[in-house]
Amino acid sequence: MDFTRKRSEKYDYAGQSYSDAVPNLHRYPATMIPQIGVDVLKEFGVAGDSLLDPYCGSGSSFLCGLKHGMKRMTGFDINPLAVLISKVRFTRLSAEEVKEMSAARRTLRNDVFDLLKDEANMASLPMPHVTNMSFWFSERVAAHLAVIKACIDRVPNSNLRNFFLLAFSETVRDCSYARTNEFKLVRMKPDEVLKFNPDVAGVFFDHFDRMFAYYMGYYLPKLTGDGDSRPQVDIRSGALPDQQDQRGEIYDAVLTSPPYGDSGTTVAYGQFSALSNEWLGISGARRIDSMLMGGRMVKENIRSGLIAPYIAEIEKADAKRSLEVSSFYADLERSIKTVAGRVRKSGFIIYVVGNRTVKNVCLPTDMFIAEKFEENGCRHVVTYERALSNKAMPSRNSPTNEPGRTAGTMLYEYIVVCEKTAD
Ligand SMILES: C[S@@+](CC[C@H](N)C(=O)[O-])C[C@H]1O[C@@H](n2cnc3c(N)ncnc32)[C@H](O)[C@@H]1O
Repeated sequence: MDFTRKRSEKYDYAGQSYSDAVPNLHRYPATMIPQIGVDVLKEFGVAGDSLLDPYCGSGSSFLCGLKHGMKRMTGFDINPLAVLISKVRFTRLSAEEVKEMSAARRTLRNDVFDLLKDEANMASLPMPHVTNMSFWFSERVAAHLAVIKACIDRVPNSNLRNFFLLAFSETVRDCSYARTNEFKLVRMKPDEVLKFNPDVAGVFFDHFDRMFAYYMGYYLPKLTGDGDSRPQVDIRSGALPDQQDQRGEIYDAVLTSPPYGDSGTTVAYGQFSALSNEWLGISGARRIDSMLMGGRMVKENIRSGLIAPYIAEIEKADAKRSLEVSSFYADLERSIKTVAGRVRKSGFIIYVVGNRTVKNVCLPTDMFIAEKFEENGCRHVVTYERALSNKAMPSRNSPTNEPGRTAGTMLYEYIVVCEKTAD
């Protein structure tokens, strides 16, 4: 089978960034720049109303769907922080809720400042379980965060509460000792720690005001409309249920950027989100990476299909690494089977993915995706190769897993387009 790639400069978006297209509410690793989805949906004249993103992260694909005029969008993600970001971006607040928001902000501000003045009351507030709390937060910052969280928990309307929680999540990261310019959790240097004394409540309200202004100016107008013409974005927590468990929903199109490999050695979504998720009260926040694609080890290497020789090559260098890589592809294959079953005949499936290098073997994940969709009632239409200059993620990794040893990786990204041919 021929899954060759076509170099497409049109899809490079050289010199453009995510924020050139869209105001972002909250940081997230490895986001897909929405320009890709907008142009690809247009190029293939993707028809219909409904869009599925089985790995929705912060929800970039829904912006593309909205721009394309789609009305029913559904996303899944295992990471609770990703679900919260997507929900806040794509929840349509009613006119009453918008009005209520200024009163809720006022009440929250009064509550927070009243509590901050009262040390005795502050000490009695519930403190969430945060792993190595004192390593990541000073006592003062932790106490102020606990005050803000307790006051947010009193906001009765969950749509409004989610906005405050999202601003809180950015505040957690900004006021922790974690470096903000990295997606992994890395502590500041000791001299930076000594000088670090953030105004926690100030950071929180600044984030909230910025987010809400972006939401009102950019997102809400895109979510309005009358009756049936109103777009609906439904964000669900967890993985797309597999075939035995289907609710029978069938979509006109899929647009997604799946993980490129297991979280342990590529992008650690769970680790990036761990402090926020723990402060938000998510149990098992530190185990999320092991629940994501490729997180559970298989016992046998993959021995068939186009990925098999690449895995055999890795196995020669490191048997454990080859099993880790096989675990990722086994999960990806299972998920592709489920996704293919959710698309109507003639519907388009678009995966935006990078090819990682492990033990100096560059793994053709784009071709694997095309192959597996072909095995599941689809035809591969084209794969575009785009130069990767904007992805918000490290462009170098440690494919040998030796600290300090890096190799160039993922200079290109692939837009794999397939079409469902079976009924
Ligand atoms: C490349 S990111 C998606 C980024 C997204 N396109 C955006 O612009 O924000 C991949 C996402 O897949 C999620 N993920 C990994 N394994 C998953 C699984 N088995 N089911 C659902 N989501 C999963 C991760 O939590 C992560 O948010």
